[in-house]
Amino acid sequence: MHLADACSPLAKVFAVTSGKGGVGKTNIAANLAICLAALNKRVLLLDADISLGNVDVVMNIRSKYDISHVINGHKRMEDIIQPGPSGVQVICGASGLDRLADLSEGEQRHLLQHLSKLQRQTDMIVVDTAAGISRSVVNFCLASDHVLVVTTPEATALTDAYGMIKVLARKRYQGPISIVVNMARDMAEGKRTYQRIADVARKFLGRDLYFAAVLPKDERLCTAVRSRKPVVLAYPNSQISSSLAKLAARLSDVRRDVEVSGGFFRKVVKWLN
Ligand SMILES: Nc1ncnc2c1ncn2[C@@H]1O[C@H](COP(=O)(O)OP(=O)(O)O)[C@@H](O)[C@H]1O
Ligand SMILES: [Mg+2]
Repeated sequence: MHLADACSPLAKVFAVTSGKGGVGKTNIAANLAICLAALNKRVLLLDADISLGNVDVVMNIRSKYDISHVINGHKRMEDIIQPGPSGVQVICGASGLDRLADLSEGEQRHLLQHLSKLQRQTDMIVVDTAAGISRSVVNFCLASDHVLVVTTPEATALTDAYGMIKVLARKRYQGPISIVVNMARDMAEGKRTYQRIADVARKFLGRDLYFAAVLPKDERLCTAVRSRKPVVLAYPNSQISSSLAKLAARLSDVRRDVEVSGGFFRKVVKWLN
């Protein structure tokens, strides 16, 4: 590794997760990545959801190759990074990092070196995880510096979000956990939703949950998705876009650390083994 690389700080890693599917994770992760890039950050978006129709749809990316092609040795890391809108770099199939555990130690080390280099060459990594408390999703969260749990005001989404937070608390996740309330009818409903989950987490888990954002239910997001354009680019003046930009501005304030125990990718693999 180049000495300059070894000394550069590591990108901050944000995992966007949820208990229940279909709550808006992918849209939030993709649009947040674009807003961070608009703040002159070097941003890497990792699609870590195995199901179809994720980052590639929202970002309008055709992902022929992904992490699995790097793991099986057919492609180099730099060949699978896709340019997304606003200079965001995208890696698809990051859920395939699971398979790193099957590789020999030498192969793992080789790949991890490349991934760690990526973390030094960027400022922010946004991970779009799958929904639910599977081991793989929880690992991605545990390896991140900050977890954003997305919920809607709906009772089932809220219950499942709490389930995810409970697992993170049990696993002694040290980073901040923040709540994004999506598809709210208005600000008041969104704030109430945050307060409910924050109260329960405080009472039963002894954990403080941070308030990240309330995002309104907005048909224009669906229109944007249908035209394969992120909402912050399709409708930059909408309330949802300005709320996402505001959240990005707050998240971008955090300092990058020079020393973190081995970096994000190493931690993901450590949990797998
Ligand atoms: N704020 C919103 N307003 C209206 N519809 C939304 C909003 N957020 C998400 N949706 C709808 O929910 C669908 C699923 O969103 P997505 O980001 O793919 O969720 P997830 O990644 O959690 O499964 C979107 O295609 C869109 O139709
Ligand atoms: Mg998704």
